[in-house]
Amino acid sequence: MAAGPILSVSQAFDGKVLLLTGGSGFVGKGLLEKLLRTCPGIRKVYVLLRAGKAGTLPEERLRAMLKEPLFDGLRAAGYGDRLERVSAVAGDCASTGLGLADEDRARLQDDVQVFIHTAASVRFDDPLKRAVLLNTRGAREAAALASGMRRLEVMVHVSTTYCNTHANVIEERVYPMPAETREDWREIISLAETLDEEALESRVARGYQPNTYTFSKALAEQIMKDHSDRFNIAVFRPAIVVGAIKEPMPGWTNNLNGPFALCIGITKGLVHTALADKDAVIDMVPLEMVVNGIILAAREGIVRSAAGEAPGLRVYNCSAAHRKTLSVCDSIECALKSNARAPHDRVLWHPFVVATSSVAVFTLLSFLLHFLPAVLVDAMLILASRRPWLVRTYWKIYRATVSLRYFSLTHWVFENDKFYALLGSLGAEDASTFKLDMSDVDEMEYVHTHLQYLRRHILKENMDPKAARRNQTAMFVLDRCTRVVLLYFAVTWAYRLFCALFLRSNIL
Ligand SMILES: NC(=O)c1ccc[n+]([C@@H]2O[C@H](COP(=O)([O-])OP(=O)(O)OC[C@H]3O[C@@H](n4cnc5c(N)ncnc54)[C@H](OP(=O)(O)O)[C@@H]3O)[C@@H](O)[C@H]2O)c1
Repeated sequence: MAAGPILSVSQAFDGKVLLLTGGSGFVGKGLLEKLLRTCPGIRKVYVLLRAGKAGTLPEERLRAMLKEPLFDGLRAAGYGDRLERVSAVAGDCASTGLGLADEDRARLQDDVQVFIHTAASVRFDDPLKRAVLLNTRGAREAAALASGMRRLEVMVHVSTTYCNTHANVIEERVYPMPAETREDWREIISLAETLDEEALESRVARGYQPNTYTFSKALAEQIMKDHSDRFNIAVFRPAIVVGAIKEPMPGWTNNLNGPFALCIGITKGLVHTALADKDAVIDMVPLEMVVNGIILAAREGIVRSAAGEAPGLRVYNCSAAHRKTLSVCDSIECALKSNARAPHDRVLWHPFVVATSSVAVFTLLSFLLHFLPAVLVDAMLILASRRPWLVRTYWKIYRATVSLRYFSLTHWVFENDKFYALLGSLGAEDASTFKLDMSDVDEMEYVHTHLQYLRRHILKENMDPKAARRNQTAMFVLDRCTRVVLLYFAVTWAYRLFCALFLRSNIL
């Protein structure tokens, strides 16, 4: 970086006007809270929001969001007035022009200096058309908006480390699209705009891209690369984002997704087999590592811009590689220990799980441990005139697990030198406020805190420990009795079979 003024993070954001898309999402909310808490000089934050499902206006949505407990810490610290600097802008990233009204577009292009684009659909199974129109065309429209921003210093585009999984080691650079994808992003967007889903799927070859999400996000990175001669762009790629360690509050999340959904399924006694390789590390990054990284990537762009550097693109893999990472098996083990410490109040069965890295063995185990008992339970429900649900649930779990095997069984290394180098030019105080290295975190404590948060706030469980212990003991006894009975039948039948085959006797 050329020699320029050394700015602390809060100095870098002093007087700045920001635009944030995806501000109502998991990453976006955490980011907004931290920016407001740690950068008191921010002049204004525009949050691009679409109308709510019930037709709630974006401004109403924003005001309701800012009242959530997530922002209580700000109010408690006496920073409540900073929330007044946040305004909603009505828009829709799946529409051309991001769905902005002309006057809003003009205002943003006059005012905004830092543009952070996080809005996306993170569903792996979205139809290709939807994924391209939101994640790819949305990025094109965001880049077009940024191109017209007169005072823009940096645009941070939030991508994903998983949009380049053809190599086992992923560097911090934009990779070309798979060779099979003949069209470039311009043509693919235009095909998505004109063709129906079936025609689009048959026309566009995704090559090694495992799903529509990674494909549409990889195309978005191409768009950023093609705009990098116009303004400063940071492509920021988180790995799998999981709940917060400490900030904005211990264990915080707003969803039940990813590896911890599996853990909860196991500790609730629903899931008894998992497709996981004990050596395959899944690169989980806690929310604050992502939030801090985005802020530092933006700061670096601001510093470069202040130093009068030419526009350019930098890529950051926000990953824990070469530091502390967890395997799926490790997180399951921690989850079971956490449940032993503080069990759920109601479970379906005593929690246990058999993990395998073989799809065939997983299918067999699913049949024995999930579908067979589920048929019995559903039959009883039907007899009791209640709606059966267990077979359907296990079928969904089976399909989701098998479709995610590419991710759960492969080990990638996401190189992260540039990401950790973001700390390089910081003072000691900033390096601790915007910590990126979480290696010193006790994983057992983290998993426990996060699971407790999920159970209390997302699953709204009754956290009464007495009821939970009673339930845990009853389920344990039921589980062990069932095992003894099953073992008795298995031994008896094996003995009968043995006699029939080898002794030709009818002693039983
Ligand atoms: N979560 C992860 O594990 C992970 C990992 C790697 C990368 N990322 C990336 O991180 C970014 C944020 O992900 P997240 O986990 O925060 O996702 P999220 O919780 O699902 O949030 C998505 C955000 O995008 C907004 N959005 C969706 N469609 C929109 C539209 N048509 N117009 C305007 N806004 C729209 C949503 O707004 P509404 O409230 O209106 O729905 C929401 O604010 C994404 O770019 C994602 O690719 C996430």
